[in-house]
Amino acid sequence: MGNVASYEKKIAEKTGDYTGKITENERKMVMRLRNVKGAREALEENSYVIEAPEACRGKWREVFGNENPLYIEIGMGKGQFLLELAKRHPQINYIGIEMYASVLVRAVQKAEGADPGEGVRAIVPSEHKNRQELLFPNVRFLNMQAEYLENAFQPGEVDRIYLNFSDPWPKARHWKRRLTSTVFLGRYEKILKEGGILEFKTDNRDLFEFSLDSVKEAGWKLAASTFDLHHDPALCEGNVMTEYEQKFSSRGQAICKLVAQNSRAC
Ligand SMILES: C[S@@+](CC[C@H](N)C(=O)[O-])C[C@H]1O[C@@H](n2cnc3c(N)ncnc32)[C@H](O)[C@@H]1O
Repeated sequence: MGNVASYEKKIAEKTGDYTGKITENERKMVMRLRNVKGAREALEENSYVIEAPEACRGKWREVFGNENPLYIEIGMGKGQFLLELAKRHPQINYIGIEMYASVLVRAVQKAEGADPGEGVRAIVPSEHKNRQELLFPNVRFLNMQAEYLENAFQPGEVDRIYLNFSDPWPKARHWKRRLTSTVFLGRYEKILKEGGILEFKTDNRDLFEFSLDSVKEAGWKLAASTFDLHHDPALCEGNVMTEYEQKFSSRGQAICKLVAQNSRAC
């Protein structure tokens, strides 16, 4: 489940030497395997992708050209969730953050209305360079790790953060890497506005229980939670499915969701 398992599978396929453990070198190797040819170049030329997010810190409203609220998704993957939200809520600005160029490029292609599907590997450089009118004017993407959020957003600049099906990092010693650890909640608190919201969905019950504990330990207010989102009429209202959510729920797995409000509101 999640990326750790897929790293392991890819390493097993590549080396035929599956150990069940992922070292830093193995992880880097998989990152190289995941590098879709031309992905970085395609991102560099694309109007949706902000190359130097630190230059936009504190100026995101200028980038979008309006005063609308700013919602971000961390670990966006291929962008299905973010783009559907952006379509439904043109009065909200959305930034999708994804650490892998080879994954982010799929979201860019979707935003350009050219979803190539899983099988297509070639990257066509953007036709939208310098284009004034984007299909999704309320969307931008950052090719960045969540660890560096504070370089991209100034305190209080973000209204809402979405985390969907974040990597579980199942080993106890890796708890700080989980995007719902108290370490990350501390980072989110620095960029969220007073009373800002964090929404988190996962199929992984262990990660979810860990996240509920983190929220409590960090002093955030738990506004809502469920261990079975799709059978919770109140929380499921207006739910937008992510790629992973579709995959897991089609296998009959329950989806957990929590909504937390950052402690400065309490
Ligand atoms: C399991 S996938 C889920 C994708 C999508 N959110 C969904 O629900 O379909 C997790 C994604 O988060 C990205 N990711 C993991 N850790 C990250 C980090 N620290 N910063 C940015 N992206 C990260 C991974 O590259 C991957 O694309």
